[in-house]
Amino acid sequence: MIDEKLNIENLTQKLAYYSKQYLGSGEAPKNNAVLWLTGLSGSGKTTTALKLQEAIRKLSYKVCVLDGDEVRKNYTSDLSFTDEDRIENIRRVAQLSNAIASQNAIVIVALISPFKENRLLARETNQDNVFLEVYCKAQLEQCEKRDPKGLYKKARLGEIAYFTGIDSRYDVPQNPSISLDTVRSSPSINAARLINLMVECNIIKAFS
Ligand code: ADX
Repeated sequence: MIDEKLNIENLTQKLAYYSKQYLGSGEAPKNNAVLWLTGLSGSGKTTTALKLQEAIRKLSYKVCVLDGDEVRKNYTSDLSFTDEDRIENIRRVAQLSNAIASQNAIVIVALISPFKENRLLARETNQDNVFLEVYCKAQLEQCEKRDPKGLYKKARLGEIAYFTGIDSRYDVPQNPSISLDTVRSSPSINAARLINLMVECNIIKAFS
């Protein structure tokens, strides 16, 4: 419920402070950046985000992941999955990502973020950072077949309402910075593609 919403300004200040510790002692990237992974539930956003984080840590840059399930548990637990609450969830995560990236870091966001206008808002909120929209592309049938948390089954049985792709809409990104095939390509291959893109976009240095 939005009535009970957290004070986002306090939250971002706190996070900016704590993120120094959270982000570890890595190097600053060439440009602060937010990689915003969007896709259906079960499309591989979290797996890709964690693989990418591991690769970026190996390159010694400051990086963290803001993952939908984790963020909802820790920071936005007052929000449901109605359109209104998802919009608020995305707004808050956009603020958080900006606050953390401004600590000279790379932030990987893994959030369904189903509505195109909210992804645009996330981009606008991050106008001081390089912002890359990353579409984790997997057809609904594939995600439903994987069903790692058993949620599609529950949604089909009517036990969960407003489930993305079933009774809540997902706007496929029309012009993402990159589209990853998360069915045919492995998480390592996709992470490598993102690392290459980050070099091209001047976020990290080229390496030999
Ligand atoms: S978002 O739409 O607000 O961006 P978010 O990424 O934070 O979604 O959370 C999605 C995760 O919440 C899913 O991976 C799934 O585990 C869980 N979930 C629970 N209920 C729903 C629902 N109705 N629709 C989508 N995901 C849900």
